[in-house]
Amino acid sequence: MSQLAAVILAAGKGTRMKSKRPKVLHEVCGRPLVAYVVEAARAAGAAEVVLVINHEMNAVRELFGPDVKYAYQKEQLGTGHAVLAARPALSAASGDVLVLCGDTPLLSGELLQALVTRHREGAAAATVLTAELKDPTGYGRVVRDAAGEVEAIVEERDAAPAVKALREVNTGSYCFAAAALFAALDEVGRENAQGEYYLTDVLGILRRGGRRVLALAAPEPALTQGINNRVQLAEAEAFLRDRIRRELMLAGVTILDPASTFIDAGVSIAPDTVIYPFTIIEGRSSIGRGCRIGPGVQLRDSRVEDGATVSQAVLVEAVVGPGATVGPFTYLRPGTVLAEGAKAGTFVEIKKSAIGAGSKVPHLSYVGDAQVGRGVNIGAGTITCNYDGFKKNATVIEDEVFIGSNTNLVAPVRIGRGAYTGAGSTITRDVPPGALALERAEQRVLPDWVKKRLEKLACAKEKGKLE
Ligand code: UD1
Ligand code: CA
Repeated sequence: MSQLAAVILAAGKGTRMKSKRPKVLHEVCGRPLVAYVVEAARAAGAAEVVLVINHEMNAVRELFGPDVKYAYQKEQLGTGHAVLAARPALSAASGDVLVLCGDTPLLSGELLQALVTRHREGAAAATVLTAELKDPTGYGRVVRDAAGEVEAIVEERDAAPAVKALREVNTGSYCFAAAALFAALDEVGRENAQGEYYLTDVLGILRRGGRRVLALAAPEPALTQGINNRVQLAEAEAFLRDRIRRELMLAGVTILDPASTFIDAGVSIAPDTVIYPFTIIEGRSSIGRGCRIGPGVQLRDSRVEDGATVSQAVLVEAVVGPGATVGPFTYLRPGTVLAEGAKAGTFVEIKKSAIGAGSKVPHLSYVGDAQVGRGVNIGAGTITCNYDGFKKNATVIEDEVFIGSNTNLVAPVRIGRGAYTGAGSTITRDVPPGALALERAEQRVLPDWVKKRLEKLACAKEKGKLE
């Protein structure tokens, strides 16, 4: 089989997004538009991918790094001009090349594969992916001959009324024989309504040169749509979210209320996990088997292992070990790792800390920059005082320690294995293993203080009256 490359056009300004960000970097389901197109091109078999960008789009380079090649189009002189800009980056001048737009996130690898197959089986010089639209306004129209082969694509602004009446449009995705494409591009001029080099002119040129130009009509036109504004962005988002949820449900995940459950494209969830309503799972999060997630959970770039429970919580770059429990009302910040069976309970915030197996932080605590061993119990209201105003300091709590309620652990500090701290203590020095550390003013008890006080008050009042 001959080689397949892909050229993805993304240098256009995308003015209708009204954004400082390049259009193709706007996200649907947590992933930039152009990433979907690259993925579809690869799924269709493209070994080499060239992105055509402009000089303000270095953020695109950061996204893919060396995984794709980049071509710069200095001035946006049209889609034909953009494809020419990619030529030097393409290593093979032979074989086939997919030409795609960077803003069509719903295009699937299967559809592109079908396009390539049609192209190759028909021995065509060019094959265009088309769509039959109720309202074709704004798109290039596909003019076919009696045999159904493509004669030309005519842009709306250059179209006569009879052509404008056609409802089959150019979606902007094509498969070309590379040699034929570049030979024809050299002949494309800019004598048209927009004064641009139209890629679409290549089809007419090839056809007039006796080459075969075919079309594949997309079975689901909506999936070929480019995103031009934020309304279309939201529509694509809704469509993809629905697809993600369906795929997960069919793969064994229970989602009680799909409408209030938002799951990003990069998320994995294993079977027999139940997702309760009002849950958002973002980025590169993964959830194991048999977990209960939600209601009211936001997970970002976090990992939840088998059998864990997370409810009413926000987790960012956190790890929840097997069978661990989080929530309700818990905030786990980056670098939090709960080991197997650990617990982070109500009104607890944990940052950059490891909580050992079976250890519990059940209520009203802040734990930051701490290493907590196994089987530790951290009493309600415990605070690691990790910040001295200049830098963050570490707290080490060894295995089997018992931290009394309302303890302040002034870091850096170490609590030795099996030690206890008394409730209400402010611990500023290391505690040896097995010791009790108590830091508390001794309690005074004044018997009958209330009675005496009342008597004094009554006496003063009486004097006041006498005076
Ligand atoms: C193009 C097609 C039209 C088709 C429509 C589908 C041409 C002449 N017309 O029209 O037939 O129906 O797409 O959406 O090709 N781009 C560059 N550099 C440029 C110009 C564009 O990289 O100089 C990129 C854009 O970023 C975009 C793609 O090419 O990803 C399409 O450009 P756009 O301006 O949207 O083309 P249309 O005029 O809509
Ligand atoms: Ca467009």
